[in-house]
Amino acid sequence: MKPIYPFARFAYRTLIAPWPPYAVFLIVIGAIGGTVPLLHIYATTHLIDMLMAERARADASSIDLLMPYAPYLGLLIGMMALHWILYYDTFQRYLAAHLNERVVQRFNKTFFWRVFALPLERFEYPEQHDTMTRAYRAINGIHPRGQSQIAAQELYAVQRLISCTTGAITILYALSKVNIAIVLILLIGGLYMMRWSMRHERQFIDIHYDQTARQRQRDYWGRLLTERAHAAEIRLFGLGNYMLSAWRVLNDAMIREIADARRTFTQTLLILLAIMAGLFGLSIALLIDQSSRGTLGIGQFVAMLYAIHHYLFFLHNNGHRITRMQWFFAELRYAYDFMEKEAPPSRSFPTTDATASDAVPEVIFEGVSFAYPGAEKPALSNIDLRIRAGERVALLGENGSGKTTLVKLLLGLYQPTKGRIYIDGRPLDAIDPKTWRTQVAAAFQDYGRYAFRVRENIAFGNLDKRADEAAIQRAARQSAADEMIATLPRGYDTLLGREFETGTDLSGGQWQALALARAYLRDAKILALDEPTSALDALAEVAVYRRFSDLSKGKTVLLISHRLGAARLADRIVFLRRGRVAEVGTHAELIDAKSDYATSYAMQAARYRTEGSRDGE
Ligand SMILES: Nc1ncnc2c1ncn2[C@@H]1O[C@H](COP(=O)(O)OP(=O)(O)OP(=O)(O)O)[C@@H](O)[C@H]1O
Ligand SMILES: [Mg+2]
Repeated sequence: MKPIYPFARFAYRTLIAPWPPYAVFLIVIGAIGGTVPLLHIYATTHLIDMLMAERARADASSIDLLMPYAPYLGLLIGMMALHWILYYDTFQRYLAAHLNERVVQRFNKTFFWRVFALPLERFEYPEQHDTMTRAYRAINGIHPRGQSQIAAQELYAVQRLISCTTGAITILYALSKVNIAIVLILLIGGLYMMRWSMRHERQFIDIHYDQTARQRQRDYWGRLLTERAHAAEIRLFGLGNYMLSAWRVLNDAMIREIADARRTFTQTLLILLAIMAGLFGLSIALLIDQSSRGTLGIGQFVAMLYAIHHYLFFLHNNGHRITRMQWFFAELRYAYDFMEKEAPPSRSFPTTDATASDAVPEVIFEGVSFAYPGAEKPALSNIDLRIRAGERVALLGENGSGKTTLVKLLLGLYQPTKGRIYIDGRPLDAIDPKTWRTQVAAAFQDYGRYAFRVRENIAFGNLDKRADEAAIQRAARQSAADEMIATLPRGYDTLLGREFETGTDLSGGQWQALALARAYLRDAKILALDEPTSALDALAEVAVYRRFSDLSKGKTVLLISHRLGAARLADRIVFLRRGRVAEVGTHAELIDAKSDYATSYAMQAARYRTEGSRDGE
């Protein structure tokens, strides 16, 4: 993909719009800076010519002597100061840092908003992660060539670009008064050099773009090696070297690609520099020729020598700036692409939403199928299921049969690929997701462990209640997390996780109890519990299910569990097999029907019995 840069729009939105007076200031001093060489040529020519024309009398005082030269001397001092201010980092750096903060903050905010707005399904696509990574890196100035690609730095570069360009132009102008051939030599050589370096830089930009997926993978290996979550297994199984070599192989391959490009770049650069040196020599030769024929004064000769030298400096400087800008714009495009293209489609939903009523809705799955992006087989096929208002349904089935997927469809996190889900007769996709999310709650199978306080870990289930101490404590009691919390050093204020100072870590089951409390904190009409007790000990599990009947009153509940005993709490059992509804009925019905459920149930019961009798021996 070869992007065409909307330069002007990006430049305006990134460099000028965030802080216009600063941009104007930089452009103005950039332009002033460009006049330095011209004034320098003027002062030098006059000084030398004056010195050559008049010899001072021996008895003259130094003051008298210096007086005629004073204006030129002053001009030179002024030029020098201006030059320093403009070309060495002085006050612009402070202003630039200020602009930088504005821009980066603004961009990051938009970036994260866009990320939140992405439907869950998009996270299933690797390209989505590539795009996101490119945008994030661009915004935060994480740059492969070790230069910080931050807007303000670039604005600063723009100022220099302006200075150097106006400087180069004024020099060419001055030279044109002396010898037009030199101007042509320098101009054509300079433009060619510039075009050449831009083309080459493009190559590096493209390589970097193509490497994003592999960079992410390499960084993933790196994270495995450094993150706490994997530290124990990596040590125990001795995986360090294996992972490290995976990291190295990938990294080496990428470095080789860049190194190859760099080698050809350097070879051609050397040839080009030789050509430039030749052009420089030719220009000087022309000057000497003119001077020795007497058509060029010594003052002008020296000034022109200086000017050509300076022109080459500007050229070099501009080449550097322009390639940097090239990177900047290329990267910026990733950021804008992400932020603009990923803008969620603005759909309007009726403000008076039927589902916003207090009644618990009936849910109907009608011929619902779903396949994960890129998956060969559908995770769910043709599900027809009616869940009555306030019903407690146990979703059972072996690993991979589609239980979690079904719940995620009902929660509106994924859209069915075929068929529809109706909520009280209204298609789920016609209901504002925001409204729908206030109606549903879930304890996920892969629940989050947030390195926040206990209180926040629970309040994340319903942020509106984050200050409602009683509600938070009630949710903790309901999920049987309260006793555990009481033993923590600072109770509800204990900071969890070990990522930050003084954090306390919890056991797997303790984290799960908090996840369940999160689900309970939300006054949802539909509650989905995906293996809510898989990590809990037997006592805690009993405690959870004892409270369950009370808690589920007046709600529709979907309970997924591999412990079939828990299914007996449900009004109805739905048994999934390979993404299809295989059996439906109450516990008693399914047992009588000698179903698969009955067989599994008998097996589990028998296991408990033999274990029980062995214990009793
Ligand atoms: N993100 C995903 N991308 C692709 N396929 C997936 C994804 N998540 C699940 N699957 C596949 O979809 C099918 C159903 O998965 P699902 O998680 O719904 O099963 P489950 O019944 O909840 O299993 P378990 O009892 O192990 O939790 C499985 O075959 C699984 O491999
Ligand atoms: Mg599951």
